[in-house]
Amino acid sequence: MMLSEQSIARMKEVVTKYPSRKSAVLPALTIAYRQIGHLDDDIYNEISEAIEIPAVEVAEAATFYTMFPKQPRGKYLIQVCHNISCALLGADGLITYLEQKLGIVKGETTPDNLFTLISVECLGSCATAPMMQINNDYYENLTRESVDRILKELTEQAQAEDEA
Ligand code: FES
Repeated sequence: MMLSEQSIARMKEVVTKYPSRKSAVLPALTIAYRQIGHLDDDIYNEISEAIEIPAVEVAEAATFYTMFPKQPRGKYLIQVCHNISCALLGADGLITYLEQKLGIVKGETTPDNLFTLISVECLGSCATAPMMQINNDYYENLTRESVDRILKELTEQAQAEDEA
């Protein structure tokens, strides 16, 4: 059992807010993802039981969206845009720099589980290219210096949270 009692209780509560149980699938997936950090077949089954929807329908919804990964990700998910505006302003070099700095390649997570690096399609911030999204925040007009500062700040933030 991966889902906590609180997560299951929240899912059961969410179901009551919708006219159809199917409508609760995305909120339930979000609750599970926030608790566990990734989703897999076992978790789909647990969600299915909690909201009384066939597991196949939970899996269909989950696999349609990239924000519900099946593999565990690091504390910080770095998504570097590689589309045209960002590419023209150095996205490839930026990705290579991040790979070297983190010691991983795209799609991987650092051994300390702090950073996962992926490249993604346009994030709608083309005027401030090159850019990346880390968890819910945008970082724009990136340079190697700003990347160094951002990674340092996030690493320090994670350490402070661990010590708290
Ligand atoms: S091309 Fe990178 S944000 Fe649009």
